[in-house]
Amino acid sequence: MLEDMPPIGFGLWKIAPEDCEATVLEAVKAGYRHFDSAADYGNEVEVGRGIAAAIARGLVTREELWITSKLWNTFHAPEHVALACQKSLDDLGLDYLDLYMIHFPIALDFVPIEERYPPEWLHDPAADEPVMKPARVPLHETWGAMEKLVDGGQARHIGVCNYNTALIHDLMRYCRIAPAELQVESHPYLVQPKLMRLARDYGIHVTAFSPLGSLSYVEIDMAGPGDSVLAEPVVVAAADAHGKTPAQVVLRWGIQRGNAVIPKSTNPGRMRENLAVTGFSLSDAEMAAIDALDQGRRFNDPGVFCEAAFNTFHPIYD
Ligand code: A2P
Repeated sequence: MLEDMPPIGFGLWKIAPEDCEATVLEAVKAGYRHFDSAADYGNEVEVGRGIAAAIARGLVTREELWITSKLWNTFHAPEHVALACQKSLDDLGLDYLDLYMIHFPIALDFVPIEERYPPEWLHDPAADEPVMKPARVPLHETWGAMEKLVDGGQARHIGVCNYNTALIHDLMRYCRIAPAELQVESHPYLVQPKLMRLARDYGIHVTAFSPLGSLSYVEIDMAGPGDSVLAEPVVVAAADAHGKTPAQVVLRWGIQRGNAVIPKSTNPGRMRENLAVTGFSLSDAEMAAIDALDQGRRFNDPGVFCEAAFNTFHPIYD
């Protein structure tokens, strides 16, 4: 399944709206065909402009592109799922998504699109002490509405992000349409071998977000420059051995495990560097040495950032 999803996608999280159109166009020129978007990234209109510009210039057709988007937490109620998907489709200027995913297994109270979009995490950001407000929506109801998007042709595939093994077992007990994709944080400091194995056993393909590890989190003060996996001696040694950069080795490790990876870069040189990871293979020993860097270290953890940034303790992995 998902044999047509290019293994190296372009991550759109944290790209400023004003840079998005040019960045997407540049990424298409560099050769990216898989774009990982989400309502919550706050830049789908501008991503859509970049896609439209690339198609209008004859660089690519819609059918050659793989576009993923994600259902935000405030739209989990079944009556809001199609609404949220349609908003992403309208913003992106598309009539179908290749993949639509539940962004987090966290249902939050509905915020009307006209009131605030993207709604983000806080129920009432203007309150004296703003907090997240959980909604009484079970995930199986959300999934039922996601399945209807496949029936209706708005999404070719549906999937889940940030699910743990227990949630995946549960989902596989009730789904009518199985999830095609699981998207989770994974890099050499967070290898997650059991989660990957379980997904594979269920026939669910995996996309690793933050495939370069801490690098995504330095710019938002959730990691320090010293946390970089790119400085690890085994990564540097493999890079030297293959005449590649440490980033290329880490991305190659990700796709050689069978996952898709979605590095973001607004730098045209790094964009191309990140795509050039298919012409070489890491040896079994190199793969094992990088696997052994595992520290179970998660940079994107609601159990940490929801309390720090949104005044709400909401762990989901523990
Ligand atoms: P930049 O956009 O300046 O290239 P994410 O993990 O969310 O995909 O983010 C990747 C982070 O790593 C970004 O801060 C990006 O910055 C940086 N980055 C992307 N590619 C490379 C690379 N090949 N080498 C070093 N840093 C990279």
